[in-house]
Amino acid sequence: MKLAVVGGGSTYTPELIDGFARLREELPLSEIALVDPDERRLGLVSGMASRMLARAGHPATVSTATTVEEGVAGAQAVLIQLRIGGQAARNVDETLPLECGCVGQETTGAGGLAKALRTVPVVLDIAERVAKAAPEAWIVDFTNPVGIVTRALLQAGHRAIGLCNVAIGFQRRFAAALGVTPERVSLGHVGLNHLTWERSVRVDGDDVLPRLLDGHGEEIAAAIGLPVELIRRLGVVPSYYLRYFYEHDAVVTEQRAKPSRAAEVAAMEERLLAMYADPAVDTKPELLEKRGGAFYSESAVALISSLVNDRGDTQVVNLRNDGTLPFLPGDAVIEVPARIGAAGATALPVDPVEPLYAGLIAHVTAYEALALEAALHGGTDRVADALLAHPLIGQASVSRDLAERLVAANRAFLPWA
Ligand code: G6P
Ligand code: MN
Ligand code: MN
Repeated sequence: MKLAVVGGGSTYTPELIDGFARLREELPLSEIALVDPDERRLGLVSGMASRMLARAGHPATVSTATTVEEGVAGAQAVLIQLRIGGQAARNVDETLPLECGCVGQETTGAGGLAKALRTVPVVLDIAERVAKAAPEAWIVDFTNPVGIVTRALLQAGHRAIGLCNVAIGFQRRFAAALGVTPERVSLGHVGLNHLTWERSVRVDGDDVLPRLLDGHGEEIAAAIGLPVELIRRLGVVPSYYLRYFYEHDAVVTEQRAKPSRAAEVAAMEERLLAMYADPAVDTKPELLEKRGGAFYSESAVALISSLVNDRGDTQVVNLRNDGTLPFLPGDAVIEVPARIGAAGATALPVDPVEPLYAGLIAHVTAYEALALEAALHGGTDRVADALLAHPLIGQASVSRDLAERLVAANRAFLPWA
């Protein structure tokens, strides 16, 4: 089968290729089309991808295209992984909110809203093109903010599923701690993209989360950056994105004192691109391990394989709520375990969610709805309303101030501004 990767010139692509090469039985690919408007990157990354596949003895060819139509024709699945404005725009997302006392993060809070404003129109345009050039193809969205982007895609009627590596990362980490294979571990994962909690960790049906927190609490707490006392008392494992909520002010202080993640990543990207340009390099560079994308290739392979082969297994994905969490509107996009088959993803039933988590989920869901309205229809007032609805912003004067600054800083990416 043919798979297309929109944003294929990303420095992350070799992570994907490494997974495709290792998991070739699960997903037999004959062509990987890399689509990107940046021809320099496309050349470097496709060269690297071809060498990696050749080295692994994988028969797939790597093709390149600068237009979506050309790249996706004949593809059964289209992965979208792009970052509008690159690390420079991300740097603004991570630093500008700090000036107003708010966390600077590319998917959470004001930075995530700025990213949504830049990204939603572009991804919708790409999806329209995919729908015409490859109407049968599944769209797998890795593009952040995944919750809002997936909501935009589903609302527009596309065959899309949103994906993130947080859940598979926990599954792999817990399996290693417990000394079992990852397939035996299933997560009671609930919430929205980048706003989730693991409420159970089942191995062959038994909930071992209490045992995990007893024996491995410290290392789990260190990995998510939250106090071990908190997670033991709550008896759940929040994702590391919850740190931006539970320790908001401490994070702001920390962020003000060090370079942004965007600056770090930009430096890594230069080094990665230099390696991709080297004809002697034909395996995934270790430096890529320092990026946040661990296991994202595995989650992509698993999802696409189940969609194409109608496997009916369970995976954590982003999909329409449709009553799964009864305290949210049907059209909200949630991140929960779902059965994956040829017809798409169907959420598994979720135990009633405690107020401690349900309150925040509902609050951020309202923000996401308003963020999407702002991204689709524009206007500084809509941007300010979304920020007013966000639990990490919420004050009227801060919302107005931030809205004006974000719009001004992103003007080049906003057709309406
Ligand atoms: C994790 C998140 C992704 C995010 C990435 C950032 O993988 O799930 O949604 O894009 O981290 O990683 P980076 O190395 O760019 O900071
Ligand atoms: Mn993610
Ligand atoms: Mn509307």
